[in-house]
Amino acid sequence: MKKDFSSIITAVVDDEIIFLKRVKSLLEKNLGLKVYAYNNAQEFLSSINEIDFDLLLLDLNLPDLDGITVLTYLKKLKSDIEVIIVTGHATVDSAVEAIKIGANDYLEKPLNKNKLIFTVNNTLEKILLKKENIKLKNILDQRDKDPLDGFIANCQKMVDVTNIIKKIAPLDCNVLIEGETGTGKEMVARAIHNLSKRSKGPFISINCGGFSEELITNELFGHEKEAFTGAHSRRIGLIEAAQKGTLFLDEIGEMPPSVQVKLLKVIEEKRIYRLGSNTPIDLDIRIIAATNRDLKTLVKKRLFREDLYFRLNVVNVRLPKLRERSEDIPILISYFISKYNKQFDKDIRGISNKAISLLLKYDFPGNVRELENIIQRAVALCDGQEIKPEHLPSDITNLNFTNVSTKLLMSLEEIEKNHIKRVLEFTGYDKKATAAILKIPRTTLWRKMKKYNL
Ligand SMILES: Nc1ncnc2c1ncn2[C@@H]1O[C@H](COP(=O)(O)OP(=O)(O)OP(=O)(O)O)[C@@H](O)[C@H]1O
Ligand SMILES: [Mg+2]
Repeated sequence: MKKDFSSIITAVVDDEIIFLKRVKSLLEKNLGLKVYAYNNAQEFLSSINEIDFDLLLLDLNLPDLDGITVLTYLKKLKSDIEVIIVTGHATVDSAVEAIKIGANDYLEKPLNKNKLIFTVNNTLEKILLKKENIKLKNILDQRDKDPLDGFIANCQKMVDVTNIIKKIAPLDCNVLIEGETGTGKEMVARAIHNLSKRSKGPFISINCGGFSEELITNELFGHEKEAFTGAHSRRIGLIEAAQKGTLFLDEIGEMPPSVQVKLLKVIEEKRIYRLGSNTPIDLDIRIIAATNRDLKTLVKKRLFREDLYFRLNVVNVRLPKLRERSEDIPILISYFISKYNKQFDKDIRGISNKAISLLLKYDFPGNVRELENIIQRAVALCDGQEIKPEHLPSDITNLNFTNVSTKLLMSLEEIEKNHIKRVLEFTGYDKKATAAILKIPRTTLWRKMKKYNL
């Protein structure tokens, strides 16, 4: 099948006008190329900012500039252009030098039509392949930018979460994300932002538990110059910084009551005042709040305002604990292995069955973050190709035995001997009664007593 080269832009630079015209027409007719012809180097060089050439046929013997100089300059400026050198007999050595600098091939004058088509065709194939690769890479990069890429959600509960995220992201409503520490609340908040029409705007995150009441008010609302002693300049607060974007209020359950009142007012009025200013600023923000505490209980205990709770909890996303989605553990493990393989330049292929079964027994109080840390550590420690129990922290490798007293780790014969002894003692060594309790014939009892020396 004939290839379509019409997307490839070609330049021919040669001072022999007849040669120039002939090459242009041969390439256009036989290969379907769009060809620009130049009879000197300067003219060609001044056009390279406007035209994005893929291929250049360059005569080495030009009157204004030496071809090697043009090529060197070009390779620095536009390294992806493919160049075919055209030379006379006298300049074959220069052609070899040109190939060293980065020319793709060379043609000798006088021109042979078939040789021209053949050589150019080879280079065109290379250019098409390169273009194809760039296109593929762009598709892959696009895929890497998928806001939910790297968010592992395999079990039904997490599939449901993902569906909610996709559904509500474009709606611009406030969202409350609930879940234990390390369950992925911030990841979800960022995904919602990135999937929303605000994705080009800022994502501003603030930890409501990390500040004193005074500091958090200042952080959130900002202040005018001289608003209070020490306010030497105007400061834009985080709420204002989130204009046209998303404000992520992390650990909202820790927000002091007085700040809760102020936040409620902001949400209701959709505007704020900087400290020390009477001029309102209209707001265009979306609020996503997160908490690892049970906000409803805090509301019942009057530690969190109910009206604010309802304003924030327009949509609720509840993230399951890792131990409630243990079927996702193996896939999370392989995801983290490949993530840290890349980071630590390792080539670990997997994890042993023993190590996986130990991890499946563990209850992960720190959820996905804890699992990620465990795998990160294991990848760092592992020198082979498989993660084994010895690469896991000791509180996990000891799990096998922690619930079982080592005193109970005995053979079946020992258990039998102890049990017969116990029953004999109970019956006062009445063999008939003992055999009846053990539901074995008296002869068998007698044999076992002899065997165990009872
Ligand atoms: N579903 C998931 N897929 C992949 N990685 C995840 C997932 N959930 C969480 N993680 C990883 O676990 C770590 C913790 O996630 P994140 O910070 O979003 O949790 P969090 O709920 O905000 O935790 P905290 O309450 O402690 O702030 C991150 O490193 C993140 O990469
Ligand atoms: Mg967090």
